[in-house]
Amino acid sequence: MEVVVRPDVDAAVDLVARLIAARIEAKPDLVIGLATGRTMERVYDRLVALGPSFRRVCSFNLDEYVGLAPDDPQSYRSYMRQHLFDRVDIDLANARLPEVDGPDLKEVARRYEADIAAAGGVDLQLLGIGETGHIGFNEPLSALMSRTRDKTLTQDTRRQNAAMFGGDPDRVPSRALTMGVGTILDAREVLLLATGEHKAHIVAKAIEGPITSMVTASALQLHPNCKVVLDEAAAEALQGRDYYDWVFQSEPDWDDFR
Ligand code: GLP
Repeated sequence: MEVVVRPDVDAAVDLVARLIAARIEAKPDLVIGLATGRTMERVYDRLVALGPSFRRVCSFNLDEYVGLAPDDPQSYRSYMRQHLFDRVDIDLANARLPEVDGPDLKEVARRYEADIAAAGGVDLQLLGIGETGHIGFNEPLSALMSRTRDKTLTQDTRRQNAAMFGGDPDRVPSRALTMGVGTILDAREVLLLATGEHKAHIVAKAIEGPITSMVTASALQLHPNCKVVLDEAAAEALQGRDYYDWVFQSEPDWDDFR
């Protein structure tokens, strides 16, 4: 894992967006795993401004709420259209989210995994982190080898995501279909972005704490090609900061991004 700390949110977002644009430039038919949440809104704004072509890109979102119609404004499909898909030249047939309106969620999950495999696997997986330490919607105690399936959300997560539901946690669906931790770890490269002091505690646990299903983001310590980008506030509780900064300043891989 490599940890990069930027001075503020804008700089952290810019770095992530430039990394994504560079990967698309290097491989125009990139298979990208996409994330939602407030943190990602700024990444998509910046990425749209950078202007890479998504014409041949294929995307798979991490997760979708169960119980909302696909055109519900709070669905992640609507979120993705608003923040990215309708603003770039992606072919919507190649922009996938779990289609959770069918009766058989196990079949939807099985097909989602099969579709990712048929696309050749995910080249670059973008991630945020929830305050419960979740990646996707892999709440505490999710098996670290889990695959795509439906999960019950914690009350904490429903409270944290309430802002997108008029501030009312009871309106946040209680279930979601999510890629598993194992599905995420299969990606060839992982890029996690976290910003803000409210994330500092869980970020330190995920990066420097023990690998545990109580903090599913800690499983990223097992991934051979994982980058974590933080702003100062989210990096506040890290112990190994000097080393992370030194790696960022001296590794040639980062030459184009400093
Ligand atoms: C949701 C998503 C996660 C995301 C998290 C962070 O729970 N399922 O994939 O990481 O939100 O959200 P925010 O960026 O709003 O803090």
